[in-house]
Amino acid sequence: MNLVTKYQDAFLGHLKTVASNKQPDSLYDPIRYIMSLGGKRLRPVLTLISCDFFDHDYKEAMNAAIAIEVFHNFSLIHDDIMDEAPLRRGNQTVHTKWNLNTGILSGDAMLILAYQYFEHYPPEVFRKLAMLFSKTALEVCEGQQLDIDFETRNDVGLPEYIKMIDYKTAVLLGAAMKMGAVVANASEECSQRIYNFGRYLGIAFQLQDDYLDAFGDPETFGKQVGGDIISNKKTFLYLTALKLSNGRQREILEELYSQSPNDAQEKITTVKEIFRSSGAALATKDEIARYTKKAFATLETINILPANKEKLRDFGALLMNRTV
Ligand code: IPE
Ligand code: IPE
Ligand code: MG
Ligand code: MG
Ligand code: MG
Repeated sequence: MNLVTKYQDAFLGHLKTVASNKQPDSLYDPIRYIMSLGGKRLRPVLTLISCDFFDHDYKEAMNAAIAIEVFHNFSLIHDDIMDEAPLRRGNQTVHTKWNLNTGILSGDAMLILAYQYFEHYPPEVFRKLAMLFSKTALEVCEGQQLDIDFETRNDVGLPEYIKMIDYKTAVLLGAAMKMGAVVANASEECSQRIYNFGRYLGIAFQLQDDYLDAFGDPETFGKQVGGDIISNKKTFLYLTALKLSNGRQREILEELYSQSPNDAQEKITTVKEIFRSSGAALATKDEIARYTKKAFATLETINILPANKEKLRDFGALLMNRTV
């Protein structure tokens, strides 16, 4: 984790300045709140690492890294409204601590703030970063809409699910890495390859997020465990359980996912048991490993130092087994 600490520390120093003196407090306090709750800071760290590994002073990627993290936190505020989530990073979500309107407008302001950080770059770099960002942010919206649409559909297939998580989550990890490459002025080919590396890693990352949503430790996870089950999210766990389970289990699962019972706890316990006994839990772990391997295969084709590839592989392996 040593690798990450260096970039994380540098990043956290700069993060304090985000919206630090801005008024009115009713707009900016929720922004300062969500940004100060912590989180893994995964995406900005990827931006800085990528810039560094393409042989450039990583501090020059700092503004892009902040833009990515502000955008990510904006997406979390709005995601928690859409998912009706009570907890984020072990604390109240913005819309529960304040209210819905605050969550909407503070979130909107963060999206604009994120864009402003690209203004620190010279015109040609600005153009590349802004274009990549716009494309990515729109894809995140598309992925988020699919995620919500799937809640009330009972004919979602695995390829559709992968497309959904690719858009809502993976493309942002890819873009975070590509931005580092753009700032470092890496070749177009390498920029695209590091983007693909981040994207595969991102799919593995969201699969693990889904896994932890069901099987995470409530003491440390920081989010409501079972939230995806309550919302009838069509995750890899659910879709695979439907495939692998016997007729009776499948019936129970489909029945439970067609309703929102008052006793959520009982639903969560029953569903988790089927996820386990059907083999879906293990299959999800296998799928996480498969996408991580795909990321590593892409990494092989990139022109960076072998020692740095090794570090990225170590990082990918850590992500695969994370508990938060
Ligand atoms: C949560 O992302 C949202 C997903 C895309 C899964 P993270 O797990 O990176 O959240 P923080 O920033 O570390 O809290
Ligand atoms: C969130 O996916 C993706 C984005 C925020 C764009 P989830 O809804 O699974 O994220 P968590 O679990 O709430 O962090
Ligand atoms: Mg959510
Ligand atoms: Mg969501
Ligand atoms: Mg989740």
